[in-house]
Amino acid sequence: MTDADSQRTRVVVLISGTGSNLQALINAQQAGELPIELVAVISNRPEAKGLKRAERAGIPTCVVDHTQFDGRESFDQALQRKIDAYQPDLIVLAGFMRILTEAFTRHYEGRMLNIHPSLLPKYQGLNTHERALQAGDEEHGVTIHFVTAELDGGPIALQARVPVLPDDDATSLAQRVLVQEHRIYPLAVKWFAEGRLRMVDGRVLLNSEPLGPSGYPIDTHTS
Ligand code: GAR
Repeated sequence: MTDADSQRTRVVVLISGTGSNLQALINAQQAGELPIELVAVISNRPEAKGLKRAERAGIPTCVVDHTQFDGRESFDQALQRKIDAYQPDLIVLAGFMRILTEAFTRHYEGRMLNIHPSLLPKYQGLNTHERALQAGDEEHGVTIHFVTAELDGGPIALQARVPVLPDDDATSLAQRVLVQEHRIYPLAVKWFAEGRLRMVDGRVLLNSEPLGPSGYPIDTHTS
């Protein structure tokens, strides 16, 4: 291990599926844009496509299959043991589709981020794009937040907004949101790794300044 490696933020990424957000992190890390080491990718589903992405990038992978456990507590405990074996500084939930126990979220408080495809607090849970369309919303988007016991309810770090267009269906809207997901997750991880983004006493600080309830607004029209 070099000195540079030992200073890098150790990141474990949790996935359940495609892993396109994981890929965005891998790409940014490989481009030298992130001062992090991706130390492991863990999936609760053995068939998750994201596992192949990790393997191609030479990142250690493992599966903790939730169907092999008889409850949330025992699954979360096994997952926690796996995660902690990698001694991460940051845990990144990237399409990790599990409701987490309070003990698990408390253990990682202030060092676990989640991405959610809506402008939280709107549309916690599933089917966010359908619900935004059904509500007739004119804008939609993506949120990155610190994870607490409340599902999709922790303090917000960043949001990016996209317009809802007249011809949109859930697929086209999801695609527009995903483009922004792939921009803002690497940015959030970078800021965390640089020590600029933190959660203190339940509030998010960026550059030591408290952010408002919607977090830092990312401009989706530039850069
Ligand atoms: C992403 O859209 C992410 O925001 C969402 O799952 C998708 C995973 O895609 N996460 C949630 O809904 C969490 N509540 P990916 O596997 O291609 O990164």
